[in-house]
Parts: sequence; C-alpha cells; structure tokens
Amino acid sequence: MIAPPFSTPIQSELQEVEALLHCQAYDAHPDLCAALDHLLSSGGKRIRPTLGLLCGKMLGAPHDRLITLAAAVELLHTATLVHDDLIDGALLRRGIPTLNAQWSPPATVLTGDFLFARAAKLAAETNHLALMKLFADTLATIVNGELTQLFQARGLASRENYYQRIYAKTASLIEMTARAAAMISPVEETVVETMRQFGYEVGMAFQMVDDVLDFTGEQAEVGKPVGSDLLQGLITLPTLYYLESHPEDPDLKMLLEGDDPPDRMQMERLVQSIRASRAIAQALDEARQSIERALTCLETMPASAEREALQVLARYIVDRKL
Ligand code: IPE
Ligand code: IPE
Ligand code: MG
Ligand code: MG
Repeated sequence: MIAPPFSTPIQSELQEVEALLHCQAYDAHPDLCAALDHLLSSGGKRIRPTLGLLCGKMLGAPHDRLITLAAAVELLHTATLVHDDLIDGALLRRGIPTLNAQWSPPATVLTGDFLFARAAKLAAETNHLALMKLFADTLATIVNGELTQLFQARGLASRENYYQRIYAKTASLIEMTARAAAMISPVEETVVETMRQFGYEVGMAFQMVDDVLDFTGEQAEVGKPVGSDLLQGLITLPTLYYLESHPEDPDLKMLLEGDDPPDRMQMERLVQSIRASRAIAQALDEARQSIERALTCLETMPASAEREALQVLARYIVDRKL
C-alpha cells in the first residue's frame, strides 16, 4: 500500500506502533493471537494513531510515550469495532469477514474485552495519570453513546441528538487523541485546549462523512456494509437535511410518525430519494465547515512538516471515499 502523503513525517513511528500492536497477544490463547493478527492485518486507515503521532511530534512529545499512546488509542478503537460489529450484526469490516461472522458471540465478546484490557495497559504505560483518566472517561462516553443509540426510539429526528450521538461514538476518541498528544508534550494548557478543539472538529467531520458514505459509498470501496443506517432506523445528517427540504415525503413521514414502520421497498425508495437530493451536498458542506474550524486551530501551532501533514489529513477527512 502506498502511504498517504499525511503520514510521511511519521513513517517510522507508525511502524513502531504497528509492531507494538502486534505483540499485544503474545502470551495469550492461540486463538486470541490469531484473532489479533486477523484484526490488525486487515488494514484500517490508522487515522487515529496517525493524527496522534503528528500532533505529538509537532509539539515535541517524548518519543516512547507518544508511540505507546498511539498504540493504546488504535487498540481501543479496534476493541470498540469488535463489539460494535457484534452489536450491529455486521459481517464485513475492512473488506474481510468480521470476528462475529466467524466466531460465536461469547468468543467475540471476550476477544473485545481482551483488547480493551490491553489498551488500558498501554494507556497506563504512558505513566501519566491525567491521561489514564481521560482514556477511561472516553471509553465510558463511547459505551454510553452506543447504549443510548441502542435504546433509542426508531427514527428520532433531532439535530441535537445527532450531534450528541456522533460525538460520543466517534469524535470523543479523536478529540482525546489530539488532546492527549498535547498533554504529554511540553506545552501550555492553552495549546492542549486548542488541540482538543482541533480533534473535536476533525472527529465530528469524520463521522458526518462516514454518514454520507453510508448513502453514497460502494461497499467494495468502503469495505463495510453501506446503506444500512436508515434501514436500521438510524437518522443521520443527510436525512435531517432531507427532512428540512421535504417535510411531506410520505415515506419519511411514515418512518417518523407512522404507527407501522415503512416496509423494505418504501425504505429503499427513501434512501434513493435522499441520495438524489441536495441533502448529501449539504451534509458534506457541514463537514467541510468543521474542517475549516480545525484548520484555524492549527494556524496557531508551530510551522513544521507535521503541521502541514495535519492540514492534509484534515482535508482528506472530507474528500475520502473509504
Ligand atoms: C470506523 O472507523 C468506525 C467509525 C467511527 C466510523 P474508521 O473508518 O476509522 O475505521 P478503520 O480503522 O479505518 O477501519
Ligand atoms: C461505530 O459506529 C463506532 C464505534 C465503534 C463506537 P457505527 O456502527 O455507526 O460504525 P460502523 O458503520 O459500524 O463503522
Ligand atoms: Mg457498526
Ligand atoms: Mg454501531
């Protein structure tokens, strides 16, 4: 795979992170080792460690601590995906079968737990108490968000609810990554806060684009099932924009107000209508505005190859196809 331009300044650090991730199950059950190998070798964009390494290197973070932090974050992300795919019944991730497609639910849950434990250990190995607390709080936010989504009424169309949901499940971890990288660096508290904001904006944009790709992406390219959010009753940004301009759409009215949920054909028609509408461009535009705010945060940071790479990474977030 050709490394994208934004990882150039941290090529060797990324390799160290990869090595650290791969040795996390060395003393575990052989099936756990195999599962970790399966998960890590299936790729993944490594957006979070890349972002963390670039932020930390830009701000002068100590090398070893930064590598450990980046590995902890990616492992936490991996663990949440293992459980998320089981919860969602998703059979494909990164273009290959998920663990739950091959293993029983108990084995999948336990593998996820093992990865959470290893992620926590890596976080502890940064020897930074405030960072460990932040790490634990972020995991609590993610889990609380997943649970809220699980118990939520189908078809809840509220922007406030949408922003809370995407913050919890996605932006909180990306926000934490940028913030933690600054926390371990020799910088003032105001810089930590600016980097937190940067991570927040990138994280929110990342999930908005993910929600657009659920409407516009090709499964072969995205590597996971697409077109399923709305079918599962999940209202995301494109649907919220579509509702604003088409409040009378009968399929949507039925989804939001009807006693019986729409049938499969009606839902697929609604997905098509949203896909063909301006709502997609509007949602992408909102993500772009988030990225503009993220870029403004970066302007106050020291000019460096890492800062330039972070700018490229931020722009990639909205232009990506997977
Ligand atoms: C997937 O995250 C889960 C979301 C928060 C949307 P990524 O799109 O970063 O997944 P990988 O790691 O690249 O597979
Ligand atoms: C995944 O959420 C985010 C977490 C792992 C918390 P989704 O269910 O919306 O994302 P995908 O579509 O499976 O990647
Ligand atoms: Mg999912
Ligand atoms: Mg989910």
